[in-house]
Amino acid sequence: MEELKRSVAREALKFIEDDMIVGLGTGSTTAYFIEYLGKLIMEEELEDVYGVPTSYQARLLALENGVPVVGLDEVDAIDIAVDGADEVDPYLNLIKGRGAALTMEKIIEYRAGTFLVLVDESKLVERLGQKVPVPIEVIPAAWRAIAEEIEVFNATAELRMASKKDGPVVTDNGNFILDARFHRIDDPLDLEIELNNIPGVVENGIFADIADIVLVGTREGVKRLE
Ligand code: 5RP
Repeated sequence: MEELKRSVAREALKFIEDDMIVGLGTGSTTAYFIEYLGKLIMEEELEDVYGVPTSYQARLLALENGVPVVGLDEVDAIDIAVDGADEVDPYLNLIKGRGAALTMEKIIEYRAGTFLVLVDESKLVERLGQKVPVPIEVIPAAWRAIAEEIEVFNATAELRMASKKDGPVVTDNGNFILDARFHRIDDPLDLEIELNNIPGVVENGIFADIADIVLVGTREGVKRLE
Protein backbone atom coordinates (compact mmCIF):
# COMPACT_ATOMS: atom_id res chain seq x y z
CA MET A 1 0.00 0.00 0.00
CA GLU A 2 2.79 2.45 0.89
CA GLU A 3 4.48 1.66 -2.43
CA LEU A 4 1.25 2.50 -4.30
CA LYS A 5 1.10 5.83 -2.47
CA ARG A 6 4.73 6.52 -3.33
CA SER A 7 4.16 5.67 -6.99
CA VAL A 8 1.31 8.19 -7.43
CA ALA A 9 3.28 10.82 -5.52
CA ARG A 10 6.24 10.33 -7.90
CA GLU A 11 3.92 10.53 -10.92
CA ALA A 12 2.42 13.80 -9.62
CA LEU A 13 5.85 15.47 -9.87
CA LYS A 14 5.49 15.36 -13.66
CA PHE A 15 2.75 18.00 -13.36
CA ILE A 16 4.98 20.51 -11.56
CA GLU A 17 6.95 23.10 -13.51
CA ASP A 18 9.17 26.06 -12.66
CA ASP A 19 7.39 29.17 -11.30
CA MET A 20 4.31 27.26 -10.15
CA ILE A 21 2.26 27.95 -7.04
CA VAL A 22 1.25 24.51 -5.73
CA GLY A 23 -1.55 23.77 -3.25
CA LEU A 24 -0.17 21.20 -0.78
CA GLY A 25 -2.73 18.70 0.48
CA THR A 26 -2.87 16.85 3.79
CA GLY A 27 -2.46 13.15 4.56
CA SER A 28 -0.07 10.27 4.09
CA THR A 29 -0.12 10.18 0.27
CA THR A 30 0.47 13.89 -0.13
CA ALA A 31 3.22 13.66 2.47
CA TYR A 32 5.25 11.60 -0.02
CA PHE A 33 4.53 14.18 -2.72
CA ILE A 34 5.76 17.02 -0.48
CA GLU A 35 8.90 15.05 0.37
CA TYR A 36 9.69 14.36 -3.31
CA LEU A 37 8.86 17.93 -4.32
CA GLY A 38 11.24 19.24 -1.67
CA LYS A 39 13.98 17.01 -3.03
CA LEU A 40 13.59 18.41 -6.55
CA ILE A 41 13.62 21.97 -5.22
CA MET A 42 16.72 21.33 -3.07
CA GLU A 43 18.50 19.75 -6.05
CA GLU A 44 17.55 22.83 -8.11
CA GLU A 45 15.66 20.75 -10.65
CA LEU A 46 12.67 23.00 -10.01
CA GLU A 47 12.94 26.75 -9.56
CA ASP A 48 10.65 29.32 -8.00
CA VAL A 49 8.06 26.81 -6.90
CA TYR A 50 6.05 27.77 -3.80
CA GLY A 51 3.58 25.71 -1.80
CA VAL A 52 0.30 26.87 -0.30
CA PRO A 53 -0.35 24.41 2.56
CA THR A 54 -3.86 23.17 3.37
CA SER A 55 -3.01 22.47 7.03
CA TYR A 56 -0.39 22.92 9.72
CA GLN A 57 0.64 19.33 9.00
CA ALA A 58 1.32 20.15 5.35
CA ARG A 59 3.05 23.41 6.30
CA LEU A 60 5.46 21.70 8.69
CA LEU A 61 6.21 18.92 6.22
CA ALA A 62 6.88 21.46 3.48
CA LEU A 63 9.26 23.45 5.68
CA GLU A 64 11.05 20.28 6.85
CA ASN A 65 11.54 19.16 3.25
CA GLY A 66 12.68 22.48 1.79
CA VAL A 67 9.48 23.54 0.00
CA PRO A 68 9.05 27.32 0.49
CA VAL A 69 5.52 28.13 1.66
CA VAL A 70 3.25 31.11 1.15
CA GLY A 71 -0.23 31.82 2.48
CA LEU A 72 -3.35 31.80 0.37
CA ASP A 73 -3.68 35.54 0.94
CA GLU A 74 -0.22 36.14 -0.56
CA VAL A 75 -0.83 34.64 -3.99
CA ASP A 76 -2.85 35.80 -6.99
CA ALA A 77 -3.55 32.29 -8.22
CA ILE A 78 -2.80 28.64 -7.53
CA ASP A 79 -1.59 26.76 -10.58
CA ILE A 80 -2.18 23.26 -9.29
CA ALA A 81 -3.27 21.64 -6.02
CA VAL A 82 -2.22 18.08 -5.15
CA ASP A 83 -4.07 16.11 -2.49
CA GLY A 84 -5.30 12.68 -1.46
CA ALA A 85 -8.88 11.53 -0.96
CA ASP A 86 -10.78 8.94 1.07
CA GLU A 87 -13.20 7.91 -1.69
CA VAL A 88 -13.45 8.60 -5.42
CA ASP A 89 -16.58 7.74 -7.44
CA PRO A 90 -16.67 7.10 -11.22
CA TYR A 91 -17.50 10.79 -11.86
CA LEU A 92 -14.46 11.90 -9.81
CA ASN A 93 -16.58 13.17 -6.93
CA LEU A 94 -14.66 12.77 -3.69
CA ILE A 95 -15.00 12.35 0.03
CA LYS A 96 -12.16 13.99 1.91
CA GLY A 97 -11.42 14.94 5.48
CA ARG A 98 -10.10 11.94 7.40
CA GLY A 99 -7.26 14.29 8.29
CA ALA A 100 -9.77 16.95 9.42
CA ALA A 101 -8.31 19.52 6.99
CA LEU A 102 -11.27 19.57 4.61
CA THR A 103 -12.18 23.25 4.84
CA MET A 104 -8.81 24.68 3.85
CA GLU A 105 -8.38 21.85 1.36
CA LYS A 106 -11.63 22.76 -0.37
CA ILE A 107 -10.84 26.48 -0.43
CA ILE A 108 -7.43 25.90 -2.00
CA GLU A 109 -8.47 23.10 -4.36
CA TYR A 110 -11.49 25.03 -5.61
CA ARG A 111 -9.18 27.97 -6.44
CA ALA A 112 -6.55 25.85 -8.19
CA GLY A 113 -6.19 25.86 -11.98
CA THR A 114 -5.84 22.08 -11.81
CA PHE A 115 -6.82 19.87 -8.89
CA LEU A 116 -4.81 16.65 -9.02
CA VAL A 117 -5.92 13.84 -6.70
CA LEU A 118 -3.63 11.01 -5.57
CA VAL A 119 -5.13 7.73 -4.35
CA ASP A 120 -4.47 4.02 -4.27
CA GLU A 121 -7.00 1.70 -5.84
CA SER A 122 -8.69 0.90 -2.49
CA LYS A 123 -10.23 4.40 -2.56
CA LEU A 124 -12.31 3.79 -5.71
CA VAL A 125 -16.03 3.24 -5.03
CA GLU A 126 -19.19 2.97 -7.13
CA ARG A 127 -21.05 5.42 -4.90
CA LEU A 128 -19.78 7.92 -2.31
CA GLY A 129 -20.31 6.92 1.29
CA GLN A 130 -19.86 3.21 0.60
CA LYS A 131 -16.78 2.84 2.79
CA VAL A 132 -16.28 6.04 4.77
CA PRO A 133 -18.54 8.58 6.48
CA VAL A 134 -18.76 12.20 5.30
CA PRO A 135 -16.75 14.48 7.62
CA ILE A 136 -18.46 17.75 8.46
CA GLU A 137 -16.60 20.61 10.16
CA VAL A 138 -18.89 22.38 12.62
CA ILE A 139 -18.80 25.24 15.09
CA PRO A 140 -18.15 23.45 18.43
CA ALA A 141 -21.19 24.77 20.31
CA ALA A 142 -23.47 23.59 17.50
CA TRP A 143 -22.24 20.00 17.17
CA ARG A 144 -25.17 18.35 18.87
CA ALA A 145 -27.82 20.47 17.14
CA ILE A 146 -26.22 19.73 13.77
CA ALA A 147 -25.96 16.00 14.50
CA GLU A 148 -29.74 16.05 15.07
CA GLU A 149 -30.38 18.08 11.90
CA ILE A 150 -28.44 15.53 9.89
CA GLU A 151 -30.89 12.78 10.83
CA VAL A 152 -33.34 14.48 8.42
CA PHE A 153 -31.06 13.23 5.63
CA ASN A 154 -31.52 9.62 6.74
CA ALA A 155 -28.08 9.69 8.33
CA THR A 156 -26.40 9.33 11.68
CA ALA A 157 -23.57 11.57 12.80
CA GLU A 158 -20.90 11.00 15.42
CA LEU A 159 -18.57 13.52 16.99
CA ARG A 160 -15.00 12.59 16.02
CA MET A 161 -12.94 11.97 19.14
CA ALA A 162 -9.15 12.19 19.45
CA SER A 163 -9.52 9.74 22.36
CA LYS A 164 -11.71 9.39 25.44
CA LYS A 165 -9.03 11.11 27.47
CA ASP A 166 -8.23 13.90 24.98
CA GLY A 167 -11.79 14.66 23.89
CA PRO A 168 -12.97 15.77 20.44
CA VAL A 169 -10.67 16.30 17.47
CA VAL A 170 -10.15 20.05 17.02
CA THR A 171 -9.44 21.29 13.49
CA ASP A 172 -6.83 23.88 12.48
CA ASN A 173 -9.73 26.37 12.53
CA GLY A 174 -10.69 25.49 16.13
CA ASN A 175 -13.82 23.55 15.17
CA PHE A 176 -15.16 19.99 15.67
CA ILE A 177 -15.75 17.24 13.11
CA LEU A 178 -18.92 15.19 12.77
CA ASP A 179 -18.65 11.95 10.79
CA ALA A 180 -21.98 11.36 9.06
CA ARG A 181 -23.08 8.02 7.61
CA PHE A 182 -25.80 8.38 4.99
CA HIS A 183 -28.08 5.53 4.01
CA ARG A 184 -27.34 6.28 0.33
CA ILE A 185 -25.79 9.26 -1.47
CA ASP A 186 -27.46 9.55 -4.88
CA ASP A 187 -26.58 13.15 -5.70
CA PRO A 188 -23.25 14.25 -4.13
CA LEU A 189 -23.44 17.85 -5.37
CA ASP A 190 -26.93 18.31 -3.99
CA LEU A 191 -25.95 16.83 -0.61
CA GLU A 192 -22.79 18.95 -0.48
CA ILE A 193 -24.86 22.11 -0.92
CA GLU A 194 -27.64 21.02 1.46
CA LEU A 195 -25.21 20.21 4.28
CA ASN A 196 -23.52 23.59 3.97
CA ASN A 197 -26.95 25.22 4.37
CA ILE A 198 -27.27 24.01 7.96
CA PRO A 199 -26.36 26.89 10.29
CA GLY A 200 -23.17 26.08 12.17
CA VAL A 201 -21.73 23.89 9.42
CA VAL A 202 -18.43 25.36 8.29
CA GLU A 203 -17.78 22.94 5.41
CA ASN A 204 -18.30 19.30 4.52
CA GLY A 205 -16.07 16.65 3.00
CA ILE A 206 -18.01 16.04 -0.21
CA PHE A 207 -15.94 17.49 -3.06
CA ALA A 208 -18.35 17.18 -5.98
CA ASP A 209 -17.18 18.19 -9.42
CA ILE A 210 -13.89 19.78 -8.26
CA ALA A 211 -11.26 17.17 -9.17
CA ASP A 212 -9.70 17.49 -12.63
CA ILE A 213 -7.40 14.47 -12.70
CA VAL A 214 -7.13 11.45 -10.40
CA LEU A 215 -3.95 9.35 -10.35
CA VAL A 216 -4.70 5.86 -9.04
CA GLY A 217 -1.89 3.66 -7.75
CA THR A 218 -2.58 0.06 -8.74
CA ARG A 219 -0.47 -3.09 -8.72
CA GLU A 220 -0.32 -2.80 -12.51
CA GLY A 221 0.97 0.78 -12.39
CA VAL A 222 -0.44 4.31 -12.09
CA LYS A 223 -3.75 4.89 -13.89
CA ARG A 224 -5.01 8.32 -14.83
CA LEU A 225 -8.74 9.19 -14.61
CA GLU A 226 -10.21 12.45 -15.92
C1 5RP B 1 -7.24 15.04 4.85
C2 5RP B 1 -7.68 14.35 3.62
C3 5RP B 1 -6.73 13.35 3.03
O1 5RP B 1 -6.35 13.80 1.79
C4 5RP B 1 -7.42 12.02 2.91
O2 5RP B 1 -7.84 11.65 4.20
C5 5RP B 1 -6.49 10.95 2.32
O3 5RP B 1 -5.42 10.72 3.18
P1 5RP B 1 -4.37 9.56 2.93
O4 5RP B 1 -3.57 9.97 1.74
O5 5RP B 1 -3.55 9.52 4.20
O6 5RP B 1 -5.13 8.28 2.70
O7 5RP B 1 -8.72 14.58 3.09
O8 5RP B 1 -8.23 15.90 5.34
